[in-house]
Amino acid sequence: MDGEHPERKFLAPFTGKPMAPPPVWLMRQAGRYLPEYRQVRAEAGGFLDLCYTPRLATEVTLQPIRRFGFDAAILFSDILVVPDALGQAVRFAEGEGPRLDPIRGVEDLNRLDVSRTGPKFSLVWETVERLRQELPQETALIGFCGAPWTVATYVVGGRGSTDQAAARTWAYRDPAGFQQLIDTLVDASIAYLSGQVEAGADVLQIFDSWAGSLAEDQFTRWVIEPTAKIVMRVKARYPHVPIIGFPRGSTAELQRFVELTGVDGVSCDTSCPLSAMQKVAERGTVAQGNLDPLLLVEGGSALDRRVDEIRSAMNGLPFVFNLGHGIVPETPPENVGRLVSRLREAV
Ligand code: CP3
Repeated sequence: MDGEHPERKFLAPFTGKPMAPPPVWLMRQAGRYLPEYRQVRAEAGGFLDLCYTPRLATEVTLQPIRRFGFDAAILFSDILVVPDALGQAVRFAEGEGPRLDPIRGVEDLNRLDVSRTGPKFSLVWETVERLRQELPQETALIGFCGAPWTVATYVVGGRGSTDQAAARTWAYRDPAGFQQLIDTLVDASIAYLSGQVEAGADVLQIFDSWAGSLAEDQFTRWVIEPTAKIVMRVKARYPHVPIIGFPRGSTAELQRFVELTGVDGVSCDTSCPLSAMQKVAERGTVAQGNLDPLLLVEGGSALDRRVDEIRSAMNGLPFVFNLGHGIVPETPPENVGRLVSRLREAV
């Protein structure tokens, strides 16, 4: 990876080289906090129309790169493109979040069909191709998918929830049936990610936003095992492409997650102590994180102080600066500029 694109400084920590200052990108760096995003979003109509229109998805991916010069761009799409492409129509009601007709048991699984995903996945892959042509050479391109567990919480619940109860209870009631759903999502995710690599993605991230709601045995079966399968099968085809996991809310399981899944990097949420991030990085895995997104809303000297603290704690270790979760819409764009300049000031 380093050999192929030495100009992409984002990739250096994945070859074991710490960088000072560290590379930086921010989860949800494209989005509603940017006026130019809101303009394109209005032009696109629905949110998924934006994801499926390569010209517009490319434009919104590039917006934060132009403004802030991040070291990596992340493909603009959504984790729910996978169930949508599988045949479970996803709608985004204005101001309400995603809505799906829930899949509640094995009897509904015939509504999902991996062989049907081509047309919609191809639109996303076309965006990746366009991005690789339009991005500056030094900017890495991150592709992504949702982890099977987190995607399943929406597939089964039909919407976001605070406790993921619908998926958790199906998994207890009928583990063999729930395994079939997870296996379908594993297969679709591997196809989706592989196409992104073929189209030009340099790095992949797997978002497991709801990993933290599971008991230890359930975490092993529904977070670690499916992620390990995806990592193994994608790496068999593309050994040079680093994969970052994001098991949000799972600090206590961080080391086990890293060892058993085979990820190259791990994104750490805001509540993860810097000492835990240091520990994984000292053992050779890239740690990514973990500034509080609300500190980016607040800004000022409190923001500067914490940026300095995180940077110095991770100095000399394989590390990528990021937030602990996505940018929130209330974030003043000038605070993002302030963060990037502060981070890149003479170390
Ligand atoms: O990071 C990026 O800039 C890339 C784009 C990206 C989006 N969603 C765009 C988006 C990524 C990586 C995601 C991942 C995603 N989507 C996750 C995992 C990460 C996380 O945040 O926990 C999840 C759980 C989803 C599902 C999802 N998408 C929800 C629950 C919502 C509604 C809530 C909200 O913030 O509006 C979305 C919509 C969504 N995805 C928006 C964006 C920019 C806002 C939609 C809009 O513009 O109206």
